[in-house]
Amino acid sequence: MKLTYTDALFAVSEDTLRAHAQLAEAAFQETIQKSGRGNDFLGWVDLPAQVSENEIQAVEKCAAHLAQCSEVVVVIGIGGSYLGARAVIEALQHGFRAMMPGAAPTVLYAGNNMSEDYISDLLEVLNQKEYSLMVISKSGTTTEPALAFRILKQHCEQKYGVDEARKRIVAITDRARGALKTLATQEGYPTFVIPDDVGGRYSVLTPVGLLPIAAAGFSIRKLLDGAKSMRQQLLEAPNFEHNMAMQYALLRYILYNQDRQVELMTSFEPKFYFFIEWFKQLFGESEGKEHKGIFPAGAIFSTDLHSLGQYIQEGTRQLFETVLTVEHAHAHVSIPFDEQNTDGLNYLQHRSIDEICHIAQQGTCQAHVDGEVPNIKISIPEINEFYLGELIYFFELSCAISGYMLKVNPFDQPGVEAYKKNMFKLLGKPGF
Ligand code: PA5
Repeated sequence: MKLTYTDALFAVSEDTLRAHAQLAEAAFQETIQKSGRGNDFLGWVDLPAQVSENEIQAVEKCAAHLAQCSEVVVVIGIGGSYLGARAVIEALQHGFRAMMPGAAPTVLYAGNNMSEDYISDLLEVLNQKEYSLMVISKSGTTTEPALAFRILKQHCEQKYGVDEARKRIVAITDRARGALKTLATQEGYPTFVIPDDVGGRYSVLTPVGLLPIAAAGFSIRKLLDGAKSMRQQLLEAPNFEHNMAMQYALLRYILYNQDRQVELMTSFEPKFYFFIEWFKQLFGESEGKEHKGIFPAGAIFSTDLHSLGQYIQEGTRQLFETVLTVEHAHAHVSIPFDEQNTDGLNYLQHRSIDEICHIAQQGTCQAHVDGEVPNIKISIPEINEFYLGELIYFFELSCAISGYMLKVNPFDQPGVEAYKKNMFKLLGKPGF
């Protein structure tokens, strides 16, 4: 993974970065020494190096069992209990997975919305498919996944019988607390634990992410290797000049202080749609508090160049852009020669789509820089488990450093309670 910020230097000079480097270095130390706010939720810092062979094998064994008996695995969860797994799976799987059934089961998702039509459509699919359920909730009490699970559990029991359903349902939750833990113990479901010191949005490298990713047929060992390698690279570099996470966090911090209040993460790779969703949740929930924080947004190009592109180029100057880019495509598709050349595209004959895409990226970056949008570039050589693992750890550490520079607790989410309280009161939940 590489970080390049030459196209942001017109807004934040190297001198300015150097002058503030100590801020980032102090926030980095707060994170790795676990001395800052919310420090009982810093278990993710060492996680990639601490996952044991036994844990990996247990996850792989359970995933293999579910895969063997299921055409579909439904992952029930919301926020940090859902987005990490989906980010990795959708980046790695075939772009048209639904049309291309493979050896591994298709992963579908529930519990992240309250659409009756969505759940009803899902039940229709599950009537026709062999399936299993992974229910994921750290608190074990979140309403959306709990509702979806109640419905899907009953469907599963009716379809397979209670005993067989118990072999097709896996719970990932707290070691001891919460309604889901109680239910899992009562029913005897296979259960994986979310460590106490890892919060939802930092939990993709625990069974929360690892089990769905393994069930989808991807290598959790390579994912963990990537995270481990990035951890080593970053933790062994306490100086700003050699630490990409500090550099990215400080760039964001200075841009924010120059009134760049929106970070738009963009990519020309549609497979990154859910990775960007994961990034939005990680940074949005970690930083957006005490009336502070950058608003994390996302866009997929080229499609959004023909919608948001106008705003990026000429709208209110409140944006900076973080471009997530992939150096090499896995496949090769080139532009064919056409005798008639009615579309005038013969000048591109034999060039690959990937080559044209990179040139489009260059052109887009130049245009946005001309439009005074600072561009930060984060690139990986190709999409695979290892580089996704690197990206995950890089963003997690950058987010913690960023939160500490902003002087907020990056590991709580008090604001999420407000809508819940109102909803419970309106629904007549006892005690509200
Ligand atoms: O990052 C977080 O902590 C949140 O997004 C949670 O993951 C989300 O609210 C779901 O919570 P739970 O896993 O307790 O159901």
